[in-house]
Amino acid sequence: MRKIIIAGNWKMNKTIPESIELANLLKRSLYDTSEVEIVICPPFTSLSDVGEVIMDSNIKLGAQDVHWEKEGAFTGEVSCAMLKSAGCVYVIIGHSERRQYFTETNGTVNKKAKAVLKEGLRPIVCVGENLEERKKGRAFEIVKDHIVNSLSGIPNEDMLKVTIAYEPVWAIGTGVNATKDEAEEMHKYIRGLLTEMYDKELAGEVRIQYGGSVKPDNIRELISEPDVDGALVGGASLKADSFTDIVKNCL
Ligand code: 13P
Repeated sequence: MRKIIIAGNWKMNKTIPESIELANLLKRSLYDTSEVEIVICPPFTSLSDVGEVIMDSNIKLGAQDVHWEKEGAFTGEVSCAMLKSAGCVYVIIGHSERRQYFTETNGTVNKKAKAVLKEGLRPIVCVGENLEERKKGRAFEIVKDHIVNSLSGIPNEDMLKVTIAYEPVWAIGTGVNATKDEAEEMHKYIRGLLTEMYDKELAGEVRIQYGGSVKPDNIRELISEPDVDGALVGGASLKADSFTDIVKNCL
């Protein structure tokens, strides 16, 4: 049985006081929702403070990126150990915004995923095609490339700690979510790829989240699909009410 996982990606939003305020509101509104795994991913500057707020709650902390090296002369970067010491459990890797604006590749995603797993953290590995690729009928080819190359060399026992986020770029921040059928089609395809790369049992245990314009009014039908195991939420995770409603609509 795969537990539904709802993660909020705050992206480059919220100062430290704003982050603390939102985390406090969520801690109060979501205290009785243990059937859903809840993760919030504030910006680096807020991680430690938000980690303290949610320490004794059922909400887990995640980061939005990481560097694969352990330490050293990498100005501006943050290591896995630093994230762990701030209270992180999850790390988003390979988000399409990082692939698009910050030269993230499958190769760097792979290095990051391995570093995260080595540190005992859990990667949320993002994959997904853009609009042009979908229009050209290349969506499955692109997602296969992301999955196969981002996860290359990750052994079976580590793969159980990986969450996949299918985020079609055309659905991110556009208000146009993938339909439940479009999401299920790709999630099922991803699970098939995992079956080929690992085995059926393991593929059946890996959670695959959907991301892209998830809102309180579409989450229920998305997760009603057999291979959709939750959501990675952007815009709607920035307000306590909408994020709370998304989680509660999964119950
Ligand atoms: P939106 O929910 O704002 O479309 O963003 C999705 C996303 O990119 C989450 O990582």
